[in-house]
Amino acid sequence: MVHWTAEEKAAIAAVWKEVDVEADGHETLARVLIVFPWTQRYFSSFGDLSCATAILANPKVKAHGKRVLSALGGAVKNIDDIKHTLAHLSEVHAEKLHVDPQNFKLLANCLVIVLARKLGARCTVPCHAAWEKFLAVVCAALSKHYH
Ligand code: HEM
Repeated sequence: MVHWTAEEKAAIAAVWKEVDVEADGHETLARVLIVFPWTQRYFSSFGDLSCATAILANPKVKAHGKRVLSALGGAVKNIDDIKHTLAHLSEVHAEKLHVDPQNFKLLANCLVIVLARKLGARCTVPCHAAWEKFLAVVCAALSKHYH
């Protein structure tokens, strides 16, 4: 069972209020595909991912980024039970999509950068730490079905 301090919970909730699942989800997934190009192999059905401009303009990347961040919103709302909240998604990524769980960390990494850019000076050290912890718990929950 993960322990959360009141400050950590407050930091996660406060930042989430500012998240735009569509725009920030789009930027996060686009960064994953551009910065870590080998991740593109999972998205062969998405059409043109040939360069950064194509990825950023791709409507499927945009729609899927929103879907990913919306799922993350479920984990924010159920912060005390992330493992169960994401259990089905873990199964889908493992059994159906065969996504290497290392990739979850790449997405978390990109999301932290998107949030940091958005928050600027408000991305304080405790806030950054709370988000790294939250995303580590999310990645562990999504990786659960692989063990
Ligand atoms: C599908 C969430 C990370 C690859 C999905 C779906 C959700 C989701 C909600 C739709 C599932 C369904 O149709 O039932 C997440 C979350 C992630 C994450 C919350 C991390 C925080 C990743 C990563 C990759 C990935 C890192 C690969 C690099 C895929 C693929 C699909 C998918 C290929 C199917 C897309 C399609 O064809 O529509 N994900 N995902 N996911 N995810 Fe993830």
